[in-house]
Amino acid sequence: VPAEVTEHGDDGVRRRDFINIAAIGAAGVGGLAVVYPLVSQMAPSADVLAESSTEVDISSIEAGQAIKAVFRKQPLFVKRLTPQEIKDANDVDVGSLRDPQTLAERTKEGHEDVLVTMGVCTHLGCVPLGAAEGEVKGEFGGYFCPCHGSHYDTAARIRKGPAPLNLQVPEYEFTSDTVIQVG
Ligand code: FES
Repeated sequence: VPAEVTEHGDDGVRRRDFINIAAIGAAGVGGLAVVYPLVSQMAPSADVLAESSTEVDISSIEAGQAIKAVFRKQPLFVKRLTPQEIKDANDVDVGSLRDPQTLAERTKEGHEDVLVTMGVCTHLGCVPLGAAEGEVKGEFGGYFCPCHGSHYDTAARIRKGPAPLNLQVPEYEFTSDTVIQVG
């Protein structure tokens, strides 16, 4: 009888959906339990997010140097690239990158030599090296994360290692030629 067939069919689907949802729920909770202790240290709380923006004076940063600042309680790297570092970044085949972005997309027009990124590895949140004098820069001349060996290039794009994404470029703007406002 067609009516019965339909009823069974519906019940079957509902039961399956419920089982699927329960399975996803359990996996989700398990995942959160593992990740939360790591993420809680770096995930800004609501009041931190509401914090006013950070101003950084970049006038003292010479080509090839970087400064570490703090934005919303997290490390922020502001680096002035050398002509060679800019060339190295632009010579890369963007299509071959794990997280394809050009240097131009990661900087502001007319200020392609100023690279502003969060100093937070996109793998598990360690602070990469390479922003201070004498720190190891890694295989691709940018930043190197000592925790599990992620290498970022001169545009802070992920090139090797477990990190899935480029170092994040926060929202920012130039308020003058020598000052940026982040956030
Ligand atoms: Fe940077 Fe794992 S946290 S490579």
